[in-house]
Amino acid sequence: MNILVIGSGGREHAIVDALARSPRSPKIYCAPGNAGISAQAECVPLKDTDVDGLLAFAREREIDLTVVGPESALAAGVVDRFREAGLRIFGPTQAAARIESSKEFAKQLMERYDIPTAAFRTFTDYGEALAYVSARPLPAVLKYDGLAAGKGVVIAETLAEAETALKEMLLDDRFGEGKVVVEDFLTGPEFSFMCFVAGDKVCPMVLAQDHKRAYDGDKGPNTGGMGAYSPLPFITDADREYALRQILEPTARAMVAEGCPFTGVLYGGLMKTPQGIRVIEFNARFGDPETEVVLPRLKSDAVEIFTAVAENRMPEQVEWHDFATLGIVLASKGYPGSYEKGAVIEGAEQAGRIFHMGTARKQGELVTAGGRVLFVVGCGATLQEARADALRKVEKIHCDNLFHRTDIGHWALEK
Ligand code: AMP
Ligand code: GLY
Repeated sequence: MNILVIGSGGREHAIVDALARSPRSPKIYCAPGNAGISAQAECVPLKDTDVDGLLAFAREREIDLTVVGPESALAAGVVDRFREAGLRIFGPTQAAARIESSKEFAKQLMERYDIPTAAFRTFTDYGEALAYVSARPLPAVLKYDGLAAGKGVVIAETLAEAETALKEMLLDDRFGEGKVVVEDFLTGPEFSFMCFVAGDKVCPMVLAQDHKRAYDGDKGPNTGGMGAYSPLPFITDADREYALRQILEPTARAMVAEGCPFTGVLYGGLMKTPQGIRVIEFNARFGDPETEVVLPRLKSDAVEIFTAVAENRMPEQVEWHDFATLGIVLASKGYPGSYEKGAVIEGAEQAGRIFHMGTARKQGELVTAGGRVLFVVGCGATLQEARADALRKVEKIHCDNLFHRTDIGHWALEK
């Protein structure tokens, strides 16, 4: 069996790793992949948005299954084009991926189908938006309606901050011409609930939480995620059941009813507020870095699951390991601001399970090649043990230009 994974980060490395564990021993390609992925898959120098190139490659190499990692590939229409060509692909169509790419689409869907989320209004006019925000309690949550590389959400503590952000989004078109969703500010722990979805069929994965701030104590700027862990002791079985029955399943049914059935991974970014569980956002793909702690816990055959979902079926049973996983991101100094690339990394090969997020090979040496560079996964019977294991592995890696958080999991561990 020939499998193509699209993408080049830690998430795609975790996907490749899960597929490589399959008893079917598939031949795996990854486009474009990275230096770590190349140990488990043949990397192909094609960009994740080069749909024509990917399609031609899949035909030429007789790819049986393609798995899409990043939203950029979904937004480029890779799933639509592969399906038109009669190729099996795991991921949502462009129309279904709007649940992530358009905040307005997602909010309206939730409103129409009574899926619990923060109250909101959508604006195109700067003056109207500002008037609305002025009349509501602060902080105000302002979300640009479209893909904005993780920078489209502003939590404005003051009216002046709200004014600046609205001006950038609606008058200066910082991310392009668009709308802004203004929603109520909610509080509580956030968690990520990813489900395999094939039309109205939903199969839950184990829960995870990521840490978005750059530094210990959840301080510093927002990042793409500095670490993650699974399971989550502060989310009860009843919480999870509620989220599945009242949020993820009805959303999958709503997408079918709206004429854009979802296939792939539906990611619920949820918050446990004092009033109950609410949706903060949906993503149309595997979360990053949540996938790097969730897929190592997958006991069932990933090839079977991804194939079934791509064929609009749900596998009979998806089993998970009981052990806990906790992963720490090693990031380039300066990230999420500007940083240098090309620093030599030593000891990564000996450190155990590591997913590469942004690495390259230069004259045989492993070097940094991105903001987030490595994701070190610890495993253990408990989260405490998983964290100790991860920190032990981090110690084995040497590089002058990397930093990491030491408190990943504190939400679960220091209470
Ligand atoms: P989003 O891209 O919609 O997930 O928003 C990014 C981050 O902003 C979330 O992970 C939350 O931490 C925060 N956030 C978004 N919406 C809200 C809200 N309604 N209330 C409080 N925090 C929010
Ligand atoms: N970890 C958040 C995301 O994947 O969007």
